[in-house]
Amino acid sequence: MTALAQKMIAEVLQPGDFAIDATVGNGLDTFFLADQVGPHGHVIGFDIQEIAHHRTNLILGEAGLLTRVKLVQTGHENLAESLPETWHGQVKAVMFNLGYLPRGDKTIITVPETTVPALETAARCLCHGGRMCVVIYPGHTGGEKEAEAVQQWAENLPSMDYDLELLVSPKANDTAPRLLVVTRR
Ligand SMILES: C[S@@+](CC[C@H](N)C(=O)[O-])C[C@H]1O[C@@H](n2cnc3c(N)ncnc32)[C@H](O)[C@@H]1O
Repeated sequence: MTALAQKMIAEVLQPGDFAIDATVGNGLDTFFLADQVGPHGHVIGFDIQEIAHHRTNLILGEAGLLTRVKLVQTGHENLAESLPETWHGQVKAVMFNLGYLPRGDKTIITVPETTVPALETAARCLCHGGRMCVVIYPGHTGGEKEAEAVQQWAENLPSMDYDLELLVSPKANDTAPRLLVVTRR
């Protein structure tokens, strides 16, 4: 699902664009976004954990991508206040990868109380043709509740403004990861 999320984002994200990684983690999506937007584009990444920032700084630094990325150690629920004014309504891509940090503390997880407000703000920040991908993991403790809240939020988006896709493997059971794709018309 993470590879599919990057593929869906690559369909819309162009050099020079603005992009957001709402859950930086180990930096794989931040790296992907930074590579896609090129030297004239910009990425802002959010994570609450210092270890996530440390690991991501390392991989971006090694690849010479740090100048196009700003990492913010705060929750994505503070997205609106943390974005420059010029980004509002101009963001081409947003990535959320929910759950816990791989190779990290598995008790620190994304939660619906902050995820849903962040999704709402992020959807409003998208430009026309902009896309948000949300990888959802119902399989861990707390994940099912978050998956339900996220899907409920998505169902309530105005269909005249946003296209929705929920991608699940045909062989998936109820706890399998899934990908929500929200594209602003
Ligand atoms: C599944 S990991 C992200 C993996 C990442 N996309 C990657 O490519 O490595 C989820 C991340 O969300 C972070 N997180 C949890 N609550 C958050 C919040 N309120 N705001 C931003 N990040 C949060 C966790 O610290 C964790 O690093």
